[in-house]
Parts: sequence; structure tokens; C-alpha cells
Amino acid sequence: MRHKVLIGFMGSGKTTVSKLLAQRLGIGLLDTDEEIQRKQQRSITCIFAESGEKAFRQMERELLKALAKEKTPLVISTGGGLAVQPENKSLLKALGDVIYLQVRPETVLTRLAGDETRPLLQGEEKEQKVRALLRAREPFYEAAADEILAVDDLTPEQIVEEIIRRTEATA
Ligand code: S3P
Repeated sequence: MRHKVLIGFMGSGKTTVSKLLAQRLGIGLLDTDEEIQRKQQRSITCIFAESGEKAFRQMERELLKALAKEKTPLVISTGGGLAVQPENKSLLKALGDVIYLQVRPETVLTRLAGDETRPLLQGEEKEQKVRALLRAREPFYEAAADEILAVDDLTPEQIVEEIIRRTEATA
């Protein structure tokens, strides 16, 4: 079995779905945000504030390279910006089945109302930020994906079953 790599915007459900998918497949789980925070011993908010986004993107890329050596199949949940860095596309593709959880901006806004953990969405005009960022990122997510799943109207369980159905042929 190849790694199952979940990509998509903040609030698309990668974390929830990745946990369920890993349980359902009986394999391990790695969340890139969690792993970076664990290694750095500080939160994403702190990393952005103290070291900047560029440094965070470098950490993501280093982790991706390290994961290429991991032979045991994993579910890998990625931070929302990882798949849109052009230099990460080929690394992701080489890693396993890349599944894009596609969401509408309205869904993101509902799910992330009051959220303070995403540095890129803090401050005024959250709606405009979400819409602009999602629009700008969409082509990159699509280009990096092997499978695209519109998830707004699906439960996490339904998403898991759909991922398994779609990637069965490559298992
Ligand atoms: C980011 C998404 C976050 C986290 C960081 C940057 C992004 O992960 O990696 O705040 O650029 O979209 P989630 O997608 O898990 O929220």
C-alpha cells in the first residue's frame, strides 16, 4: 500500500478525516503540522511570528523529504499551504496517493469562525482572505492531486469510504 496523502485548504477536514482513515486502514498517521510543532517545541503561531512563513515552508519541505524514506504506509495529513508550494508537487506525487479535499469558501468560514490558530487568516476581512487565498491556491491543489473530492456535503465517514474506493486500484 502507498501512503495516503491528504491535501487541501484550512478547514477542509484533513485532520478529522486522516484520523478516521488511518483507523479504517489500520495504518499509522502523521500530521505535518503536529510533527513540525513537536520537533520545534512551539506552536505554528509562534513559528510564524518568530521565524516567519518562509522558515515554516522550509520545515515542511524538509519533513516531506524525510517522509520519502518512510517505507511503512501512513496516512499523511498536510498543512493547507504545503501542496501549493510548486517545489513540493513532485515530492508529494512520489510519496503516494494524493487526495485533495476540496471545499467551498463558505464551508471554511463556518468551520473556522473564531479560530485563532491559523496565522494566515487572522485580523480583519477574514472572508476576503479566505476567498482570495482559496482562489489563488485552487489550481495548485488540483495539479498536485491524484484524486479530487468535493467534501462540503459529505460526512467524515463518507469521505473515508470514498477515498478507499478511489484508491483501491492502486493499493
Ligand atoms: C496553513 C495551514 C495550516 C498550517 C499553517 C499554514 C496554510 O494547516 O500549516 O497555519 O498555509 O494554509 P491546516 O490546513 O491544518 O489548518
